[in-house]
Amino acid sequence: MLKRFSISLEEELLEQFDAYIRERGYVNRSEAVRDLIRKEFIHEEWEQDGDVVGVVTLVYNHHQSQLQEKITEIQHDYYTLITSTTHVHMDHHNCLEVIIVKGRASRIKELAEKMIALRGVKNGKLTMTSTGHHLH
Ligand code: NI
Repeated sequence: MLKRFSISLEEELLEQFDAYIRERGYVNRSEAVRDLIRKEFIHEEWEQDGDVVGVVTLVYNHHQSQLQEKITEIQHDYYTLITSTTHVHMDHHNCLEVIIVKGRASRIKELAEKMIALRGVKNGKLTMTSTGHHLH
């Protein structure tokens, strides 16, 4: 059920907010405020080391010696956190791997950092997401 409440803002801050939501294509302020609140709750869950979900994205050169083996080895060390992995051969040299993870935030960060730090990984990113509610 939706509930209404009103917010008082300085004119300048409201103008900035309206510009922000226009750029992002929001149709109204309410949806933008809801998203900002959810984003903050997700941030909190990660900060408090809660159970979260995330996506690790890796772009790497599979010709790099031992890299594929190392990535697989690390994933097996943390297999309980990994929900699924998708591998895409981007071109002759490069692979994209997308790993969906679920579990304790600190362990997920550890797993992501280990893979991202490997030599030959050109671009690595952990997208921290969640539901904004505690996962059970
Ligand atoms: Ni590949």
